[in-house]
Amino acid sequence: MVTMTPFVPKPAQGSQPYVIAHRGISGKAPENTLAAFSLACNAPGIDMIELDVRLSRDEQVIVLHDRTLQRTSTGNGAARHYSVSEIKEFDAGSWFDPAFAAERIPTLKEVFQFVNKRRWINIELKSDFLFREKPEFLERKVIETVHEAGYNDYAMYSSFDHGMIATIKRIDREARTGVLYNLYRDFGRLPSKLARRAGASVFVCAKHELTATMVRDAHQHDLAVYVYTLNTTSNVNKMMNLGVDGILSDNADQIVKDVKKL
Ligand code: G3P
Ligand code: MG
Repeated sequence: MVTMTPFVPKPAQGSQPYVIAHRGISGKAPENTLAAFSLACNAPGIDMIELDVRLSRDEQVIVLHDRTLQRTSTGNGAARHYSVSEIKEFDAGSWFDPAFAAERIPTLKEVFQFVNKRRWINIELKSDFLFREKPEFLERKVIETVHEAGYNDYAMYSSFDHGMIATIKRIDREARTGVLYNLYRDFGRLPSKLARRAGASVFVCAKHELTATMVRDAHQHDLAVYVYTLNTTSNVNKMMNLGVDGILSDNADQIVKDVKKL
């Protein structure tokens, strides 16, 4: 087992951008499952795993992108209505391929135990308009899980909900954090302004929304820029020319060859 060095938001001067496995190697295994994270741990050159978190009914931090269960499991309805033991009954792999029928929706704690510092983890906190959590509730649960696993120096927190990121930073001054750009809400605001308000050091943006002006502004303010979701060589080359610091991909095991010239 190779333990990563502590996470720093920007790659060292002169190094290639970080390669970040979006929901694990989600092109080859069901997203946000241990199978997808296992592939990300085993593929050479991958720096980080991105995953999405929310709460179960019994207030455990689970790793699931959608508010509801049906797209990525045999469950149905809002995950927040089910306890972890109920959620564990659902098959989280067959929708992708029957070979993955044994996959289950993991808790964040299980992912930390499994990945075991072989990769950094980018924890994207999902906030939900329909299921507003009590103020600071999800943030505190996630921080607690990170600290209990000893992952403080190996994780970053990110969210479209910049209030959540500000809360995380207030609770844990040492936390590495990133703000996700929402075109409809944030249009016209530069990365430096969005990041400063939340105390973040990473600006994360979709590939079709990122401009050279945004990258320049971010770098002038010492922010790192990560871009998602790049699944082709031509997209990777375009974004590397813009000077991004991190690349999220569903097939990180493939694009890593373009990024790191492996
Ligand atoms: O964190 C970047 C990216 O994951 C944001 O979008 O919908 O894939 O969680 P989404
Ligand atoms: Mg995400």
